[in-house]
Amino acid sequence: MDLKLNNKVAVVLAASKGLGKAVATALSAEGARVIIGSRDEAELNKTAAEIKQITGNEVIAIPVDVSKAEEIEAFVNKAANAFGRIDILLNNAGGPPFDKFENFDDEQWQKAFDLNLLSVARLSRLVLPHMQKTGSGRIINIVSVSVKAVLGGSVLSTTMRMGVVGMAKLMADEFGPYNITINNVAPGLILTDRIKHTLPKDVDPEQAIKDRAKSIPLGRIGKPEELAALVAFLASEQAAYITGTTIQVDGGASRSIY
Ligand SMILES: NC(=O)c1ccc[n+]([C@@H]2O[C@H](COP(=O)([O-])OP(=O)(O)OC[C@H]3O[C@@H](n4cnc5c(N)ncnc54)[C@H](OP(=O)(O)O)[C@@H]3O)[C@@H](O)[C@H]2O)c1
Repeated sequence: MDLKLNNKVAVVLAASKGLGKAVATALSAEGARVIIGSRDEAELNKTAAEIKQITGNEVIAIPVDVSKAEEIEAFVNKAANAFGRIDILLNNAGGPPFDKFENFDDEQWQKAFDLNLLSVARLSRLVLPHMQKTGSGRIINIVSVSVKAVLGGSVLSTTMRMGVVGMAKLMADEFGPYNITINNVAPGLILTDRIKHTLPKDVDPEQAIKDRAKSIPLGRIGKPEELAALVAFLASEQAAYITGTTIQVDGGASRSIY
């Protein structure tokens, strides 16, 4: 299937590694010109060069901390000037820490809010006028499968991502008339550094991954490119009639029927 992304410009956040990098690679492989952002400039440049090498398409790296308003504004200005348009926005960031509700203070709540909820509003608000100008657009937010079924210890993540789901639904209403779609993609367990860091230190990593996969119907942890494939589809022309949805990529792990 040709996703018709050849003339499109995509902005992908939190993209030096993990899910963001996989999405940037998939969109670039489909022909999009891609602008990637995250904090560590050296890592980001390395990733941009790596993707360009694989796909042969232009990739621009612009460092940004998505939890900081002034950095987001400068980032979107540079991104919009890079190719003169923005058609696709992947809202993504690092994840907040896992712990019990009783262990989080105001500072940690504020950090999670800035990183995982306010960043989505800020980036979307600045990118939307560029999409309205061209008469179409795709906004895709990375959330978590914890918005579908309870996941212990994920109170910060779940609270912020439920906010993103609500925001996307309202934005789908408001920006539908401009042919701009807004959807959420909810990863279950996808093997990235974030997940590697949560494996028990006293067990062989391969065994620990197998243990984590036992409760997943497909019997394994997901690969970043499997999530990226859904994002690339949602970014395509073929997905023009899909908006306001939240789709999980979790190997069947969510125990919710909805
Ligand atoms: N992997 C999963 O199974 C899974 C499941 C559910 C939800 N998620 C969520 O999906 C998102 C991505 O996770 P991942 O697994 O890809 O994590 P990862 O492998 O740890 O990658 C995180 C990426 O985010 C960037 N980043 C972190 N903080 C940032 C900030 N303030 N501003 C800009 N970029 C930032 C990092 O680069 P720098 O450090 O250089 O900025 C890096 O590129 C997270 O929100 C995570 O909670 C993941």
